Amino acid sequence: MSTLRLLQFTDTHLYGSATEALRGVQTLPALKRALACARMRDWPVDAMLVTGDIVQDDPAGYPHFRKLFAEFGVPILCLPGNHDDPAAMRRELNGKPFVMGGSVDLGAWRIILLDSCVAGSASGRLSAAALAELDRSLATASARHALVCLHHHPIAMSSRWLDQVGLENADEFFATIDKHRNVRGVVWGHVHQASDALRGAVRMLSTPSTCAQFLPLADQFEVDARPPAYRTFELRPDGTFVTEVVWVDQQKAAGMGSSSACSAA
Ligand SMILES: [Fe+2]
Repeated sequence: MSTLRLLQFTDTHLYGSATEALRGVQTLPALKRALACARMRDWPVDAMLVTGDIVQDDPAGYPHFRKLFAEFGVPILCLPGNHDDPAAMRRELNGKPFVMGGSVDLGAWRIILLDSCVAGSASGRLSAAALAELDRSLATASARHALVCLHHHPIAMSSRWLDQVGLENADEFFATIDKHRNVRGVVWGHVHQASDALRGAVRMLSTPSTCAQFLPLADQFEVDARPPAYRTFELRPDGTFVTEVVWVDQQKAAGMGSSSACSAA
């Protein structure tokens, strides 16, 4: 089996309007620039992962998403965020190449897509059914390495306001994860910032948005000036993986001292 290349895009926050901005960033043009960078820098890929907040409370944003991602010819693995409309999302992203929830086996890996959304709440929670499904999915993937994906952060981000809207039952989530030995990574969106930590042997990763970012370690909400971004994964057959965050604006990224940058015209 060969190494798999997976790209994660998250918190695209699209609107029906092609020019609407969220916190100063026009979300559709920003996503288009991120995708152009990925095409230029990271192609070919085996699949793309999208970890929620595809739209900003506006179901008219889904057709933009569908049009942009349908043309890549690879599976688009999706799960919802708190700004999504689950019914509209299922309706608009129905059928190939879109995969909504469940799990997908790619080579030596199982990618598990969890729905952590609670209607009307910015916080997340995994239902008893979702936890049971996670448990079953990990148990039946015993010969595979697992990457577990969700919208809400299951570990504290050391940001007072954000940590009030994380995954409420993270203890139950980790109790399930800890029953199994094949989880290599947990990855999420929601927090609009990059982080990379270890919990035991399991890598814990958050990924910045393709639009505006949130200032890390802030007590109160504050926009960060960092540019749009996405994350790359190289998932190896032996269960190890390489990942990096790519910032989509060379000049701004250079000012941050980041070497992983890309600029699309
Ligand atoms: Fe978001």
